[in-house]
Amino acid sequence: MNIEKVDVRDIAKQFGTPVYVYSLRALREAIAEIMPLSPVVRFSMKSCSNAKILKEMLNFGIKIDAVSISEIQRAFKAGYPPKDICLTSDVFFNAEDAEFCLKNQIFCSCGSLGMLEEYGETFQRLGFGSDGVSIRINPGKGSGHNNRTNVGGPASSFGIWHEKLDEALAIAREFDLQLTGMHTHIGSGGDMEHLSRITGKLVEFAKQFPELRVVNFGGGLPYEYHSEKPQVDIGHYQPILEERARELEAHFGRPITCEIEPGRRFVAGCGYLIGEVRSLNHTLDEKKKRLDYVLTNVGFCHLLRPMAYGAYHPIWFVGDELGEETDLIVAGPVCESGDLLTQKNDEPVARKLPLPQRGDLMVIGGTGAYGYVMSSNYNSQPLIPEVMVDGDQVVLIRRRQILDDVIREEV
Ligand SMILES: Cc1ncc(COP(=O)(O)O)c(C=O)c1O
Repeated sequence: MNIEKVDVRDIAKQFGTPVYVYSLRALREAIAEIMPLSPVVRFSMKSCSNAKILKEMLNFGIKIDAVSISEIQRAFKAGYPPKDICLTSDVFFNAEDAEFCLKNQIFCSCGSLGMLEEYGETFQRLGFGSDGVSIRINPGKGSGHNNRTNVGGPASSFGIWHEKLDEALAIAREFDLQLTGMHTHIGSGGDMEHLSRITGKLVEFAKQFPELRVVNFGGGLPYEYHSEKPQVDIGHYQPILEERARELEAHFGRPITCEIEPGRRFVAGCGYLIGEVRSLNHTLDEKKKRLDYVLTNVGFCHLLRPMAYGAYHPIWFVGDELGEETDLIVAGPVCESGDLLTQKNDEPVARKLPLPQRGDLMVIGGTGAYGYVMSSNYNSQPLIPEVMVDGDQVVLIRRRQILDDVIREEV
């Protein structure tokens, strides 16, 4: 199996396993698909924050949606100027964060009344910085692959509840702020109908804010993880966004900047995680039905999504003597029953795959978004490397940690 023109076995040989691999060609294809959708496009960098990826985005004129000061600093290091970075959060992680944003001229989207108040108080105390600020609205309904990625509606703590916008206006007045931005993000993987409805709602909310300059419709563009199914056509989003821009201009009598900030759709498809089969195992259930497990060296410390969300990722085995297609449950090395790469609703799910042998490689697809960035040192595992493939070239873009990296801060 190749990623672009490089055999995955060569990557495994050169960098060891597990290893995250990004295809530059696939990344550029995603960029080319997303860029035309909206006049301003941001990359939600939480989905994949490696500097090499950020620089690639920068080269194409994509701006940044950051969720923390650390992400902003990483964007600075990658070369982004402050004017191209927006902070979207529901609280400032730390007490000093509002001051950092005001001093560095970072446009903030506040997802709670408390965060807006904190921004206002800091603005008054410092006596400088931008008086223009955005609020993130919870429009009352969300979308998502599951409850954890649904970040709209009553069960979500994110965004200012749509019936409390008068309170946001009152806070803005109290601190001499102008609510120049409106923002919403209601979850990942919404379909076009949902995106159409929510963007329409945001436009209606936005009309209450006379100082409005920019509306950010969030991320949440769908990505199809099943490699045998066609990819969701996101081209239909463009006319929806154009219509929203027209509605806003008609209401305000001046153009309002429209933005989107996808993460997943930019990077999910360019990422692969290469691991290795370490052993086969099996059990027998009460009816003596055999359950076959493939034990690999990829655990939830490397890829959390299957365990956290029951997320599906395509899996391919690569070996010289792959066996018959068999119902296989693919597991990781972490000693927890939840460490399964094939699962749903906390239950193992067998998948028909050719039976591999110990030492064969496993390639997991769709891992570019919320893959490496959600990995951890659990089980004292050093974080794994990231490499980028460009044609027949492979470059290391993050080295593998060693144990010393894991224990460095211990005192
Ligand atoms: C505020 C905000 N914007 C954008 C995104 C990106 O979403 P997606 O990766 O589904 O496009 C997220 C993801 O959680 C988010 O919280």
